[in-house]
Amino acid sequence: MTDSEKTATLSIGDKTYDLPIHSPTVGPDVIDIRKLYGTAGVFTYDPGFTSTAACDSAITYIDGEKGVLLHRGYPIDQLAEKSHYLEVCYLLLYGDLPSAAQLEDFEDRVTRHTMIHEQMMNFFRGFRRDAHPMAVMTGVVGAMSAFYHDSTDINDPWQREVASIRLIAKMPTIAAMAYKYTIGQPFVYPRNDLDHSANFLRMCFAVPAEEYEVNPILSRAMDRIFTLHADHEQNASTSTVRLASSSGANPFACIAAGIACLWGPAHGGANQACLEMLKQIGDPENIPEYIARAKDKNDPFRLMGFGHRVYKNTDPRATVLKQSADEVLDLLGVEDNKLLQTAKELERIALEDDYFIEKKLFPNVDFYSGIILEAMGFPTAMFTPIFALSRTVGWVSQWKEMIEDPGMKIGRPRQLYTGATMRDYVDIEKR
Ligand code: CMC
Repeated sequence: MTDSEKTATLSIGDKTYDLPIHSPTVGPDVIDIRKLYGTAGVFTYDPGFTSTAACDSAITYIDGEKGVLLHRGYPIDQLAEKSHYLEVCYLLLYGDLPSAAQLEDFEDRVTRHTMIHEQMMNFFRGFRRDAHPMAVMTGVVGAMSAFYHDSTDINDPWQREVASIRLIAKMPTIAAMAYKYTIGQPFVYPRNDLDHSANFLRMCFAVPAEEYEVNPILSRAMDRIFTLHADHEQNASTSTVRLASSSGANPFACIAAGIACLWGPAHGGANQACLEMLKQIGDPENIPEYIARAKDKNDPFRLMGFGHRVYKNTDPRATVLKQSADEVLDLLGVEDNKLLQTAKELERIALEDDYFIEKKLFPNVDFYSGIILEAMGFPTAMFTPIFALSRTVGWVSQWKEMIEDPGMKIGRPRQLYTGATMRDYVDIEKR
């Protein structure tokens, strides 16, 4: 961040206030209002953070108008094509692409932390079998702070490092176990000879009774889904992790808070909601009815997997996933699938509709990921846990960046109070 020569001037009544402007390396300038309340006695008001930068960060950049997403400067389409998830994890965590030796060491460290404490199995067994895997994940990840006491001190850089690796490594194991528990199958332990995505597929789909061969095309598609969800700057769940961490809470508790936030259908829960919507539509001929409902102001229904707070042109992650969806469905021989036909027709109709064009509503990452995951054999309830395990590296990277910033303060928004003014207590018999 550099100080711009420009300043913003705010007039309130007959007084004016000069506010500094900072310039980022790329993107819009920001007006620094940190001293505003102290000097002018007013707050700013921006409930959905639509015009507010809540922090400075060097990890991820999004240009929503142009449909650009960069991690540490590298475009997401290049990373999705040429890199792989664990390399992107390294990039997000440490700032640069690794050398071959650094990557080998990092992959080794992650791989050797994939098992979870054996006693945590009992924790899973306390849940109802029909619990949503996101509910199980929120609980189990929060409980990690009860199992890994040696990596909860946020002031110790080594403990922060160990916590980061543990979270990235164990999250796929926890998500797979949550799935296995809900379908009543034995837990499958991770295997160190498999890569990150193949390991996850095996932990989800293998059973002890027979061998399970991971299809390399499916494992590559899985890895691409992980990569495309790895980070997305200050979205709701990442902001939740930052806010929770700003109080000094331990990383496992903070990531559990991020998982809880991600679950909502306006955020990560949209991939499950989108596929359920496609199933509800059922047949391409029913699409006009649902488009009409999405446009009706009196109907709460929205087209799930459409729209984004930041992207107003195209979601670059969706572009990559659309291609991946074609490859996976082709491989699995499900091109004629009703669901896919409905999805493609819905996309075509919505993109030609004035309402969606005017409001700049495009398919987002959740529109295509669900189709791929369904074809791979995942139940809809597992879609958001897969988003959560992929996003863990983003949450962890943003958490580390914040903790390592000497200027970090507890997050404490102010409010526009609309309640009663001061009044005297009335005794109960007089009310
Ligand atoms: N279907 C129909 N209308 C929509 C939709 C939609 N999916 N999304 C936005 N609109 C309309 C909305 O009604 C509003 O209309 P008006 O200006 O007349 O009031 C206008 O478009 C702007 O919408 P907004 O709610 O003010 O925009 P937002 O930036 O607050 O919300 C969003 C962004 C992603 C929550 C929203 O587009 C949405 O609910 N989409 C469906 C859920 C979804 O797919 N979420 C996944 C987002 S990508 C992955 C992630 O972040 O996790």
